[in-house]
Amino acid sequence: MAEQQWNADLYDTRHSFVSAYGADLLELLDARPGEHVLDAGCGTGELTAALRDAGVEVIGIDTSPDMVERGRQRFPDVDLRVADLRDLGLHHEFDAVFSNAVLHWIPEAGRAAAAIHAALRPGGRLVAELGGAGNIAAIDGAVRSLRAEQGLDAPEDPWYFPGIADYAAVLERAGLETTGAWLFDRPTRLEGDDGLAAWVRMFGSHLLAGVEDPDGFLTELRKRLRPVLYRDGTWWADYRRLRVTAVKPGT
Ligand code: BEZ
Repeated sequence: MAEQQWNADLYDTRHSFVSAYGADLLELLDARPGEHVLDAGCGTGELTAALRDAGVEVIGIDTSPDMVERGRQRFPDVDLRVADLRDLGLHHEFDAVFSNAVLHWIPEAGRAAAAIHAALRPGGRLVAELGGAGNIAAIDGAVRSLRAEQGLDAPEDPWYFPGIADYAAVLERAGLETTGAWLFDRPTRLEGDDGLAAWVRMFGSHLLAGVEDPDGFLTELRKRLRPVLYRDGTWWADYRRLRVTAVKPGT
């Protein structure tokens, strides 16, 4: 998460589905006015602002200064901070930690879970969604094949896509009790004829590392993935989500 460079313009204009799907997760959080909530990985602040508008005492954190700056411009009276969940140093303060589409950017899942545990008060809850086992398998697989054919190294993915049992074990080791977990497909529409290429450029720049002709590479990728991921005149990323709820024991 700390190493990722985000383009706030591209994120807001082409990948707003991230927060659109997160709205659904807010329902699961069901935060009440006056509750103290940490939005871990707030991006440009859309969901943090929705919580604030519902009367929640919310702090949003993100490691990307660009995204936080954009969020502050859009929502000047929402508390958005540049911070890394792993080094947060906020203890026993929150009734809930909420996290949408961020935890898969932190391969040190145990450290992230420990930070969430530390941030929650006893009895506090975690409501999170991340990429789950099998997430973007078609995209990743096609890129790997193409890279291998071009004599390029296998890229080291910055992502962590756990299954239910693995992630429940991570949470348990951190002292959290999993109260619900769902792993499900969520084909995600990528807008525009260049939607797949825009997604790779935004989220998977490492997939293009060492590629001499990125445009040519992406054209070939589109050709290969078209039969699999192009339907009804649009591109669909093969997202799989892991949604979890957990509590920190105690009262
Ligand atoms: C995801 O939300 O599943 C995701 C986003 C960017 C890269 C990889 C996965």
